[in-house]
Amino acid sequence: MKTLAIIGSQWGDEGKGKITDLLSEKCDIVVRYQGGNNAGHTIIVDGKKIVLHLIPSGILHAHSVAVIGHGVVFEPEAFQVELKKVADAGIVVTTKNLKISENVTVITSYNKLLDAARESQGSVKIGTTGKGIGPAYEDKIARRAIKLKDLFDLPTLKIKLARNLEEKETLFKHRYDIAFPSVDEEALRLFNLGKNIAPFMCDTFSYLDQAIIQNKKILFEGAQGILLDIDYGTYPYVTSSSTALGGVYTGAGIPESSVEEVLGITKAYTTRVGEGPFPTELFDSLGEEIQIKGHEFGATTGRKRRCGWLDLPLLKYAVKASNLTSIALTKLDILSGIKELKVCVAYEYEGKRIEVAYPGIDLTKATPIYKSMKPFTDNFADKLSIELEMYIKEIENFLGIPVGIIAFGPERKEIIFRKDYFEDDIQPELDLSSWGRQAGGLEGIYPQVDLEKLSRNNATTTKK
Ligand code: IMP
Repeated sequence: MKTLAIIGSQWGDEGKGKITDLLSEKCDIVVRYQGGNNAGHTIIVDGKKIVLHLIPSGILHAHSVAVIGHGVVFEPEAFQVELKKVADAGIVVTTKNLKISENVTVITSYNKLLDAARESQGSVKIGTTGKGIGPAYEDKIARRAIKLKDLFDLPTLKIKLARNLEEKETLFKHRYDIAFPSVDEEALRLFNLGKNIAPFMCDTFSYLDQAIIQNKKILFEGAQGILLDIDYGTYPYVTSSSTALGGVYTGAGIPESSVEEVLGITKAYTTRVGEGPFPTELFDSLGEEIQIKGHEFGATTGRKRRCGWLDLPLLKYAVKASNLTSIALTKLDILSGIKELKVCVAYEYEGKRIEVAYPGIDLTKATPIYKSMKPFTDNFADKLSIELEMYIKEIENFLGIPVGIIAFGPERKEIIFRKDYFEDDIQPELDLSSWGRQAGGLEGIYPQVDLEKLSRNNATTTKK
């Protein structure tokens, strides 16, 4: 396998940082393709905590190149701060191991001000990270965004910024009544920041195109999770980018056939920050116990994360929405020793039992149907207990894809690979007996024979 996408399969914070870090050790290039510094990828190296928000986790390995693709929204000041933090941690960053697309959308002060004003004064609160992510993507779609390549010519930057501010000025003055920097001030600030960033600027499309031709091993590092995707997620309580698989193609700029394996990072329970529906949320002391034991505080904002049981109907939807080929089950240590263990296997919805949470379903009206599992008390030093194996099997059988990785702590060594990514694949044993038990029965077919992939491969062969 040469290419792999790592995608959060829930509402973010699934532990993508550590898995990306470990897998990037085996590959040549690590690419961020969407989101911005709203992400917080925590990696513990020799007991030292490093939180990366914008720079791909691959930067931690001397041999791999970190690429920020054009689908990312890029905050130049936050980038400078992070660059310094990474350098202070002893990591050497050069123009050889960090490349930023000249077409990333720049997050301006105006974007951040608008995000904050809407959250504090607007009628709908999303609970954003306040980093200006949504307004920056709005500018991109409205074709008035500032791109990284615009930062280097001051007079042109001023003209573009004036256009960019035009409508926002009315909002700042008359809707929100807040102060904002003039075009001249903002242009000069961005122009000065641009000087240090210029050397990292790169035509990342061509770079990745060449890398694929040369059979390089590439990892695509997703931020947030599928349920926060602007199209697939729990709209409007989502982020503003394509966090699902589609984001890799549009945000990194690579052809669809170039992603061979899609690894969904899945927390062994569910968490969510900010507003929005959450069917399996726990409001009792158990929810609080998981929250405290799992240190469920946002890596970017420090906010408390809401906690609940694993939601298989939502996960099944995530598998379909991003064509996940395996999952990594993280934070199993947090569930170890918990006295009660449940997993949501269906919803009762409008008098029917539903096992896949398709987007048409109003999640606020879905009542979870739980299966009680035998609690486990593993310390992960020995062989996994039967109870834990059963928990894993329950998930594999339901989703129809293997659990390729299990993680049980923040340290690099607290992990078991059941599948060998970027090497010859060792297929984990999978119990096929209960596949296809779901409505329609189709789920039972495609994990064994991926008909879609088969016809895609045939199509590629024919073209050649
Ligand atoms: P925004 O991305 O700052 O616009 O926030 C939109 C929604 O996505 C809010 O509910 C945030 O809490 C959530 N969100 C954004 N980034 C992350 C993340 O990295 N982890 C978890 N939630 C996130």
